[in-house]
Amino acid sequence: TDRYAVFGHPIHHSKSPFIHSAFAQQTGQDLTYTAIDAPAETFTTAVRTFFAEGGKGANVTVPHKEAALALADDATPRAQEAGAANTLLFTADGAIYADNTDGVGLIRDLTNRWGLSLEGKRILLLGAGGAAKGILAPLIAARPRAITVANRTAARAEALTTAFAPLAVRFDVTLTTLPWAQLVHREATPPFDLVLNATSASLAGSTPPLSRALWAPDAVAYDLMYGATPTPFLMAAQQQGAARLIDGLGMLVEQAAESFWLWRGVRPETEPVFQALRTQLA
Ligand code: ATR
Repeated sequence: TDRYAVFGHPIHHSKSPFIHSAFAQQTGQDLTYTAIDAPAETFTTAVRTFFAEGGKGANVTVPHKEAALALADDATPRAQEAGAANTLLFTADGAIYADNTDGVGLIRDLTNRWGLSLEGKRILLLGAGGAAKGILAPLIAARPRAITVANRTAARAEALTTAFAPLAVRFDVTLTTLPWAQLVHREATPPFDLVLNATSASLAGSTPPLSRALWAPDAVAYDLMYGATPTPFLMAAQQQGAARLIDGLGMLVEQAAESFWLWRGVRPETEPVFQALRTQLA
């Protein structure tokens, strides 16, 4: 039986053990998957010990994704672009290999589960922290027309768009920033087809400031966070006329499926696990 685990702090609410156990059962893979609580001081030691004791792979969540990339011997380009890793793989020759499946998880959820195409669309990305950075490269690669980044602290939005400018040029995507204060009165430029909330405002029960003018007629509001009830961002979006509301539960399941595939070489079906999680949350 191969052993896997998720490392985080706190970790007791993690859905990953349920998700990966369901994937294993569905695909007939012989593995166990546990949650390991590791504060920052002991994270690296905990991961190394897990691998030394025979662990085959791990997921890493808040607040250790940057540290996970740092401890790895090698990393995929998408993990390097994200500056963070959510997936670790212990290779046969004893090396730790890092990947980041968050971005592809978001794109799969949008395109496969919800049937949305990003090509030629205008996207507003709210937030410029780790979550925003983790999804920006795959968003650019999906070839929208434009991505506008707005963040409470303007300098972080500027730094993010500067860092990803070369990639945006390569994919012919217009990548700009918008001052936070302008989110609430903004009529000058075309509205957005997709507004992604990558801030952690929901954790404080709040939402970025929004206005009716932000939303195109068929606009989609997508929150990377999820919960039993619509997040504050999704409730505000609905009030302002967003056509569709989607939370991050599907992204959670899709990033897990991509990790599972990396470890086991088998792609699980995500829809039944997504439905089971939705039922559990309710
Ligand atoms: P994460 O990994 O969740 O992105 P992070 O790197 O700490 O965590 O970034 C948190 C993001 O949420 C940032 O964009 C932060 O804005 P600042 O850069 O101005 O701090 C944003 N954020 C957190 N709380 C917020 C709130 N109450 N309102 C608006 N934005 C918030």
